[in-house]
Amino acid sequence: MPSARLLVLFGSQTGTAQDVSERLGREARRRQLSCRVEALDSYPVVNLINEPVVIFVCATAGQGDPPDNMKSFWRFIFRRSLPSTALRQMDFAVLGLGDSSYAKFNFVAKKLHRRLLQLGGSALLPVCLGDDQHELGPDAAIDPWLQDLWEKVLGPHPVPLNLGLNPPGVPWPSKFTLQFLKDTPTSGPEELCVAGTDPQGPPSELQPFLAPMVSNQRVTGPSHFQDVRLIEFDISGSGMSFAAGDVVLIQPENTASHVQQFCQALGLDPEQHFTLQPREPGVTCPAQLPQPCSMRRLVSQYLDIASVPRRSFFELLACLSPHELEREKLREFSSAQGQEELCEYCTRPRRTALEVLCDFPHTAAAIPPDYLLDLLPLIRPRAFSIASSLRAHPSRLQILVAVVQYRTRLREPRRGLCSSWLASLDPVQGPVRVPLWVRSGGLTFPKTPGVPVIMVGPGTGVAPFRAAIQERVAQGETGNVLFFGCRRRDQDFYWEAEWEQLQARGCLTLVTAFSREQEQQAYVQHRLRALGPLVWELLDGRGARFYLAGNAKHMPADVCDTLLSIFREEGGLSAPDATAYLAQLQRTRRFQTETWA
Ligand code: 2AM
Repeated sequence: MPSARLLVLFGSQTGTAQDVSERLGREARRRQLSCRVEALDSYPVVNLINEPVVIFVCATAGQGDPPDNMKSFWRFIFRRSLPSTALRQMDFAVLGLGDSSYAKFNFVAKKLHRRLLQLGGSALLPVCLGDDQHELGPDAAIDPWLQDLWEKVLGPHPVPLNLGLNPPGVPWPSKFTLQFLKDTPTSGPEELCVAGTDPQGPPSELQPFLAPMVSNQRVTGPSHFQDVRLIEFDISGSGMSFAAGDVVLIQPENTASHVQQFCQALGLDPEQHFTLQPREPGVTCPAQLPQPCSMRRLVSQYLDIASVPRRSFFELLACLSPHELEREKLREFSSAQGQEELCEYCTRPRRTALEVLCDFPHTAAAIPPDYLLDLLPLIRPRAFSIASSLRAHPSRLQILVAVVQYRTRLREPRRGLCSSWLASLDPVQGPVRVPLWVRSGGLTFPKTPGVPVIMVGPGTGVAPFRAAIQERVAQGETGNVLFFGCRRRDQDFYWEAEWEQLQARGCLTLVTAFSREQEQQAYVQHRLRALGPLVWELLDGRGARFYLAGNAKHMPADVCDTLLSIFREEGGLSAPDATAYLAQLQRTRRFQTETWA
């Protein structure tokens, strides 16, 4: 038995780094290594000095930032006071997850690797640079790297591999044990879960506020291609407060018909209740899961059955499958050679975990309930820019939601889980409550009075600016310039009447671009260019701040290019000076963006 004790620490933003870390954990256990997997910020970092082998799995978010669940670790590890021998007992390896279309590709992993070396650690391997842009995704870099890793770690202690592939059966212990109750509890904790009045502080992921939905109104005209909703929640008594630029996190649910299909495919009784226990130390039950819990609640509120599954899903299914043909196919999908085919079957057409399970009925019917939480990730909360200010709408919170729906080669249209769920809720039919909490957002508005702001928010990008304008107008600020773009005045011009009123009162300068009302394309950046002298005067002469929000496809880059041309032509800067000017605005937070896919 190898003596090596392995620790895998991850920093994950969207769940990929966590998924890869759990895969590492499983592979280690199959190699009979003792292995713990933890989020970087849940791990007591001072203990690092006692760890012999640590694998760090780190994503790089946004503009080269560390993910939220490793931010405290990041601050700690870069403390100047740490001695250069602090980690001399440690062998480490860093696996990075990034996207090579961003300038700071895998910045976090590279920087961490260098820092661990500085602190005396010994690198087992060069840093692994997983790349989302690769046709096969990050696995293209991860697979060969992991092979090398196991050779390095097991070098002195080769052990027979238990790959769990033959014969089918239990591949590796599940994270939890799930115990069914004989009787259905008459009044379980399921009905008692009303958060928000708790003395332990404001609502959070662990304790969301169940906010009554007040209204859910389509704000795009009947001939507009997109269903966009203005949704209002009542947050009285929640203890929540927020400022312009903050976001609300919403915990969505699976649709009832998907829950039913899933239970049917796996032979689960939705009404049956169970209790859940972690099998290993260090594993914790999902937050908020009541004990006992019904199967219906587990599937509808926790298990992410509507997302596109990752390779680890196929790996586990292959091990659990009792059916020869299905098992063969699943093994292929989980092998390194099968990745192109898996991409074609699942990733490209955006096939969901539920649809895959329906394609492998014998396997689905044989999944032991203990493995449900190993197989499926938890439903992630979704963030929306808050579109209202508490000053204009006390005790209310509004969001503007574009309902995500698109087609692939699959027959059923693909639907965004959260936006479709929100759109389906109708408070007119009866009371509706939505679990939510707030978090400070990516945008912050000036605290000093008199600083003008220029806001560019086409489409739903205008949401955070509506909150900002309401807040600033309530404070008596009049230097508000909004560039808004949409297709047609009568179809998707959100809050038209409200803007007009503010213009009439002299509190707002509104500049619009209607892209489909004339032959020639008219976008916000065209209007920005036409008003170049004003933009330059506000930014350079009056210290204005510039904000940009909306769909991330081409708009942000186009607007930045336009700004650069304004700096050159109105400010007389050279091309390199214009770039440096924009970089300086970014560094000093006078230029801020919030973009989404
Ligand atoms: P379009 O749909 O007519 O192309 C909100 O979505 C508005 O942003 C729409 O008017 C849309 O125009 C416009 N838009 C699309 N691409 C854009 C881009 N690259 N830059 C600025 N606006 C864009």
